[in-house]
Amino acid sequence: MAREKILKHEQWSGGRGFIWAAAGSAVGLGNIWKFPYMAGENGGGAFVLVYLLCIVLIGVPIMLAETMIGRHAQKNPISAFRSMSSALGASPAWGAVGWMGVLTGFLILSFYSVVAGWALAYAWKAASGDFVNLGATQASEQFNSLLSNPWQLLAWHSLFMFLCWLVVARGVRSGIEWVVRWMMPLLLLLLLSLVVYAAWLGEFSKGLGFLLNPQFSDLTRSSVLMALGQAFFTLSLGMGAIMVYGSYLSPRESIGGLTGAIIGVDTVVALMAGMAIFPIVFAIGLEPQAGPGLVFQTLPYVFGQMPAGGLFGFLFFLLIVFAALTSGISLLEPATAYLVESRAWRRGKAAAVLGLVVWLIGIACLLSFNYWSDLYLLGFIQALDGKSIFDLLDGLTSNILLPLGGLGIAIFAGWKMSAAVTADELRLGAAYGLWRFLIRYVSPVLVVLVLLSSLGILRT
Ligand code: TRP
Repeated sequence: MAREKILKHEQWSGGRGFIWAAAGSAVGLGNIWKFPYMAGENGGGAFVLVYLLCIVLIGVPIMLAETMIGRHAQKNPISAFRSMSSALGASPAWGAVGWMGVLTGFLILSFYSVVAGWALAYAWKAASGDFVNLGATQASEQFNSLLSNPWQLLAWHSLFMFLCWLVVARGVRSGIEWVVRWMMPLLLLLLLSLVVYAAWLGEFSKGLGFLLNPQFSDLTRSSVLMALGQAFFTLSLGMGAIMVYGSYLSPRESIGGLTGAIIGVDTVVALMAGMAIFPIVFAIGLEPQAGPGLVFQTLPYVFGQMPAGGLFGFLFFLLIVFAALTSGISLLEPATAYLVESRAWRRGKAAAVLGLVVWLIGIACLLSFNYWSDLYLLGFIQALDGKSIFDLLDGLTSNILLPLGGLGIAIFAGWKMSAAVTADELRLGAAYGLWRFLIRYVSPVLVVLVLLSSLGILRT
């Protein structure tokens, strides 16, 4: 392809740069904001169990595959699928997996940025003393009043998108790697101290029991779909984010060890977030089914009660912002890398144009909390009636688009690429046979089964 000339391709400073960046991408609102409320709505332990199964049987093999494809091609996801499929004599239609990933990334980032904006707003609130002696009902009211104010939502959403642009525009090493290297350790430290605090103050055993005790009666077909979607979402799989990060990895590094570390950190952080939040939820008598507002309605109350809660609350919400930022940049990077490498755009301009598109979709999303809260775009489909634009963006991407992208990646890695190439790239030793079995049979079949059953949900 004549126009597809590769201008430059940056690399991480080493394997650690990749670990921090990929862990930064994985650990985000998905762990701290989404996982606790989804577990809360879907029966706690039963949901956690299905989620962990999805991580092991689908997440691990697909993350290895994504990293491997990116590293092997040394290109952004769109160009990687194009050039590899032509080299393998496979259909050029494989490029569609890359394009779908770019679209998915836009849609995710548009609602992600709105929620990250809530965290920014809350960091501000904490710092200005809004949490001091806040009652539990007042904490809920505070959240609802933020949602009903589109101008505030817009301001914070815009600020977050600007931050994403700032980092991505600076490039792989001096932007992305620089940010994740100092934000991620800080985040882990603060989360740990919050768990300790929750254990000391809250109903720790009740919270832990909720997270670990499976209530299978609460587990519906749609909870299984959501557990699958959450596994993709939390590991940043299925849209090329990990692939593009893998493409900045040197051939010397061993993919297996790096991937294991990333998945380990992500899973521990999700469970820790649950352990920090549920004890508090029970201690203040909130329902674990509070939905997307869970974190924003529980924690301010706690910070309001504790000494130096303003400072601690500020730090905590700031760190949610960091977690969101290190994820948000990975949603913008695949498309940016494509424009830079294959269309010869300047990085700053590419990130700005893409960011602007995301910003616009984000506006529709934030309006769905106030002016457009009664607008159900897909209301003619029975199961989607009553779903706002925000709900639709979230559900469509996590539960449909990411699993579809992951399916494409699994089939490409397991059936199109030769065993010789993948074995050489992954260097998994004795575990290689297991990976190949999982990626060829187990992961794709499970994804298809869950997706098909979700069609059933749509019909009923
Ligand atoms: N994994 C992030 C989280 O849990 C979100 C995210 C970042 C993501 N990049 C992604 C999700 C790519 C899917 C695909 O918050």
